[in-house]
Amino acid sequence: MELIIDTHTHYDDEQFDNDRKELLCGLKERGIGTVIHASASMSNLKAGLALAKEYDFIYTMAGFHPDEIAELSNGGYEYLESLVASPEIIKENKIGAIGEIGLDYHWMVRPKEEQIEGFRKQMRLAKKAGLPVNIHSRDAAEDTWNVMKEEHLEEIGGIIHCFSGSVEMSKNYLAAGFYLGIGGVVTFKNSKKLKQVVIEAPVERLVLETDCPYLAPEPNRGKRNDSGNLIYVAAEIASLKDMPIDDVIRITSENARRVYGL
Ligand code: NI
Repeated sequence: MELIIDTHTHYDDEQFDNDRKELLCGLKERGIGTVIHASASMSNLKAGLALAKEYDFIYTMAGFHPDEIAELSNGGYEYLESLVASPEIIKENKIGAIGEIGLDYHWMVRPKEEQIEGFRKQMRLAKKAGLPVNIHSRDAAEDTWNVMKEEHLEEIGGIIHCFSGSVEMSKNYLAAGFYLGIGGVVTFKNSKKLKQVVIEAPVERLVLETDCPYLAPEPNRGKRNDSGNLIYVAAEIASLKDMPIDDVIRITSENARRVYGL
């Protein structure tokens, strides 16, 4: 059977401090072939680069989350630029995308204007570097779409991480060539809207992701999440789309390789 690709993880989180190595080395046995680390802050970015260096099956993203966007104007942007300066340097650093970047109006840690400006700058860097983006959008669906449209998202490509929007919004992103990141939330009983999004989207445009240690799927909801749980997400997609789980795994893994250039 094809191995699963986890397209969005946070294995530098302190929740993994006691058993990180053991857990990561055991993933293959649990059906996980490749893991992509998401960067939110300067320290995550450095941790992701180190993990990618240490493990052959780990790749990383480079970017600043909207909550951490102040770091971008504090030397962060120049550092990002240096990491993606050429295709050779990108390959050496094992960077698959600029992310996670976007807008978060739920916590509103930083003012809207600052979030939008930082988001825009990182979208432009992705375009310049020829990398896709991994998008974080929370309670900011309209602004996220508008900024991305203004920055010509269709020329950049990427994944909407933990997609939580409407069916209509999913169609906008799909029409622009984007992929939808589907994780544990799709297994929750009350996730009617997301289940409908999955039913209507072509499986050729879905990728699997945990966002671990967060958002563990049923039957492990509330516990620490890890990539091994993606089997439950794949099973839910298979049932929603009435197709064999092996096909869901094979196709979503092909999609992940295509979008990240693995
Ligand atoms: Ni994340």
